[in-house]
Order: sequence, then C-alpha cells, then structure tokens
Amino acid sequence: MFTIGILASGKGSNLKTIIDKIKEGYFSSVKISMVLSDNHNSGALKIAQKEGIKNIYIPPGKYRTFLQPDKEKEYVKILKENKVDLVCLAGFMRIIKQPFFKEFNDRIINIHPSLLPAFPGLEAWKQAFDYGVKFTGCTVHFVRQWPIDSGPIILQSVVPVLSDDTCETLYQRIQEKEHIIFPLAIKLISENKIFISNNKVIIK
Ligand code: GAR
Repeated sequence: MFTIGILASGKGSNLKTIIDKIKEGYFSSVKISMVLSDNHNSGALKIAQKEGIKNIYIPPGKYRTFLQPDKEKEYVKILKENKVDLVCLAGFMRIIKQPFFKEFNDRIINIHPSLLPAFPGLEAWKQAFDYGVKFTGCTVHFVRQWPIDSGPIILQSVVPVLSDDTCETLYQRIQEKEHIIFPLAIKLISENKIFISNNKVIIK
C-alpha cells in the first residue's frame, strides 16, 4: 500500500476529491494515513473526521507564514512514525523548512493555483486575474525549500480566462482542474511512473 499524508489549512476540496477517488477505485493502492492541519477550524479536518480518517490539529506556533521549529518537528515526527511515503500539501498555507526536506526529500508535492513559475505565493488566481493574463491554470510540483512554490513540475492544467470571468468564476474552474491533476500526480507517483532527472520530472 502506498501511504500518503495530507497537510491542509483550508476548506479541503482537494482532500475530498482524493477520498472520493480512493472510494471509486481510481488508484491501484493509495491510502490516506492522516490529515494534519495548522487550522483547527479547517474544512479539511472536518472532512477527515467525517470519513473516519486520522486527523490532527498541530498548532503552528507563533509565526504567521511558517511553522515554529518545534511544531514543525511534530509534523515530521508523526508523518515518519506512520511511515508516510508521500507528503501531499493540499492547500497547506505555511512555508515548510529543513526538517521536512531532511526526512522527505523528493517526497513532498504541492498543488498551486497558477501555471508556475508565474504567480507564486498567495491567491495566485487573483494575481493572474489582476495581471490580465489570458490563460492561467494550476500546477502540481515537487516542493523545494526555496524559492516559494518552486520545484520540479509534475503536471499542469491550463484554464483560459474568459471575458466575463470574475476572480471567483476563474478560481472555480481552476479548482475543477486541480481536482483532476492532483489525484493523477499521486496515482503516477504511487505507480512509480515519475522520476526526477536534472531537476525535471520525467513521466514513464
Ligand atoms: C487550492 O486552490 C490550492 O491550489 C491552494 O490552496 C487551495 C486549497 O483548496 N494552494 C496554494 O495556494 C499553495 N500555494 P482546498 O482547501 O479546497 O483543497
């Protein structure tokens, strides 16, 4: 069984999609070991609880954008103890640091709501909308420590910006694509079809 640990801060639609895909038999052998969150009110924790998946709120500590070092070690410890094969950042809104990379090198993936390397950071769909691009989308990538939202790109999906789009309608269509490429990336990794060479992803 290929075991994933999901970190999420928000409403949890990506988590929900992965759960649904597991139920549908989309993956050959993927199991969610646990859902961890820095936000005790997150939809993600509620979804996990409802689905009977181990869910743990680990307070982030005193910083706003990253985890307090002792808290970060708690995240890593529990993922390691549960023998997680892949750490999936499904809307985890904290910058992760060295303890994660030391333990899970090349085994951390992130979903981001833009076509990276364009528009890293917060509310990427809004950044793209405000910039006036004609196409945007979403990206699944392996996570590197620096810069933010960088690392070898696994999959991307393009979303056109329509003339009558609002920020909200655009983001809704981006999320529909996220719900396709994030599970697909997990499936490909779990089936050993993804390799990194010269900091680029090769899909076999
Ligand atoms: C997703 O749109 C994801 O791309 C974004 O958070 C959202 C979580 O949605 N992540 C980032 O912006 C990371 N830089 P969800 O809670 O509905 O899955």
